[in-house]
Amino acid sequence: MFRLDNRRALVTGAGSGIGEATAFALASRGAMVYVADRDEPNGRRVADAIRATGAQASFVALDVTDAAACAAVAARVEGEGPLDVLVNNAGIGHVGTITTTNGEDLDRLYAVNVRGVFNVTKAFIGPMLDRRRGSIVNIASIGGIVGIRDRLAYCTTKFAVVGLTKSMALDHAQQGVRVNCVCPGRVETPFVSARLREYPDPEAAYREMASTQAIGRMGRPDEIAAAVVYLASDEAAMITGSALIIDGGWSAGK
Ligand SMILES: NC(=O)c1ccc[n+]([C@@H]2O[C@H](COP(=O)([O-])OP(=O)(O)OC[C@H]3O[C@@H](n4cnc5c(N)ncnc54)[C@H](O)[C@@H]3O)[C@@H](O)[C@H]2O)c1
Repeated sequence: MFRLDNRRALVTGAGSGIGEATAFALASRGAMVYVADRDEPNGRRVADAIRATGAQASFVALDVTDAAACAAVAARVEGEGPLDVLVNNAGIGHVGTITTTNGEDLDRLYAVNVRGVFNVTKAFIGPMLDRRRGSIVNIASIGGIVGIRDRLAYCTTKFAVVGLTKSMALDHAQQGVRVNCVCPGRVETPFVSARLREYPDPEAAYREMASTQAIGRMGRPDEIAAAVVYLASDEAAMITGSALIIDGGWSAGK
């Protein structure tokens, strides 16, 4: 179950947090994984660490906001062999309401969180459609399902990722390419640590963040990675257009 032997996968933003855990999880199930990140030291660190376990990984430098770079990476990767699994994980956050968020903040988040998913997917989807085989998993957020206070720009972009996912799933459902997203609640990663540092009292903010989840704790990156492995695998052949919520009960109700 959930094996990915002889599959090739690329994970964006795989130099840290959820992307790092996902790259490890895919590789541990047998996939050859491209660790794509704009952060070269961390990307190389992750690829080296995966190879040290005996699994297969290769670092690829990529800024997802650069459409030409995405096309060049896709050409290189496809030149080495067919890509079966694409995980669009790279993303950035921002704290603010409509009154404290400026247009540049919104554009910056949109460029990575939405246009980045668009750029990478557009670069890789053609050969997947030609082969009639592929699984694309976008990392959205619970902030793409429900609003979150003080996260105006972030939620705006993550709702867009869910919309992009569902639209693509319909467009390509009969062409052998599945498109899903996962919607994590709060997960302990460097991303969250950076958000916490934006608060005047980071420790109080940590307690408040964990308390939004019914289970009373933040998630772990490997708990998100496990869902990505499932969606990438043949066991999920019936699943497309899904937004899988992994939020410790955050959005289940009050
Ligand atoms: N951590 C959480 O609580 C949480 C919750 C819901 C959703 N998410 C989503 O999960 C994803 C990963 O989050 P994380 O917490 O692991 O973040 P992280 O900051 O730990 O890692 C993000 C990685 O993406 C890379 N990256 C950023 N911009 C990039 C770009 N333009 N091109 C290429 N790489 C880029 C960074 O270098 C970094 O390695 C994001 O899309 C985030 O919105 C996170």
